Amino acid sequence: MKNLLNISDINSNDLMEILKYADLLTKNFDDCLKEKNVGLIFEKNSTRTRLSFQVGINQLKGNFIDIKLDDLNMQRFESYEDTFEIMSCYLDFLVFRTTDHKKLEIASKFFKKPIINALSDLSHPCQAISDLYTLKEHFCRLDNFNIVWMGDMNNVLLSLAEVMNFTNNSKIDVFTDERIYESSYQKFKIFKNVNYHFEIKDHILNEADSVMTDVFNSMNDTDNKEEILSKFRVNEELMSHTNDKTVFMHCLPAKIDSEVTHEVIKGPKSIVLKQAENRLIAQRGILKWLIT
Ligand code: CP
Ligand code: NVA
Repeated sequence: MKNLLNISDINSNDLMEILKYADLLTKNFDDCLKEKNVGLIFEKNSTRTRLSFQVGINQLKGNFIDIKLDDLNMQRFESYEDTFEIMSCYLDFLVFRTTDHKKLEIASKFFKKPIINALSDLSHPCQAISDLYTLKEHFCRLDNFNIVWMGDMNNVLLSLAEVMNFTNNSKIDVFTDERIYESSYQKFKIFKNVNYHFEIKDHILNEADSVMTDVFNSMNDTDNKEEILSKFRVNEELMSHTNDKTVFMHCLPAKIDSEVTHEVIKGPKSIVLKQAENRLIAQRGILKWLIT
């Protein structure tokens, strides 16, 4: 059974299939989700992921059902495990955004059908697949990417590192604070294609295909990291060290003047709107792969 809790749940063929379906379905929607019911659970806020799944499911002729865990009998005495087992009696698959990745793992043991991680504290696989689609579309290739990541070592970076492992000869240069590195390194030590820096290095910026960042404080974070990460803010001065072809990417939502300035996110190198648009294209690819 197919699941997408992390990029490590799929292999390179799966990824290529997802990208292929994503492309095919931009030309012609099919009805691969006809008579399929998809449950959506969002324990945290979402604009892009929620809407792109809802619209994608509609376009492929499926039904989506918004589920609020608070409305279920789990709030009384029914167990979490039983709740997910029962849901699989009715639903064909589940899209689940959760505060705690462990909940996703437990849910996937009891929900007998596929589950897609719509973002957890650990990872954001749908974003990474979509961002790879955007890079492929923009640079017309699927290898040799030089990515610069500024700021926090978070869920979006983890899935990006996983997805970049499937491309040949790509690397990610992460610019972050040493304390963030110390507290996050365990999760990242398996990645051979990721380098870490605690000071900005202009020659690395100059080689970048894409400068990426994300909020310095994710939805799950309790510590405020804005101060210690402020020197990694992507501003015009920093972007002036990149080359003519470098693009700026951000999964959004962005906190202006925290991790990125208005001038950069709205500037000529920014492809954030394209990135957001591509979430829908990538979701259709993921949904079709899941059902095929
Ligand atoms: N990038 C992303 O996942 O956005 P949302 O939180 O709005 O879904
Ligand atoms: N890292 C951010 C991503 C939001 C799409 C968060 O988890 O809040």
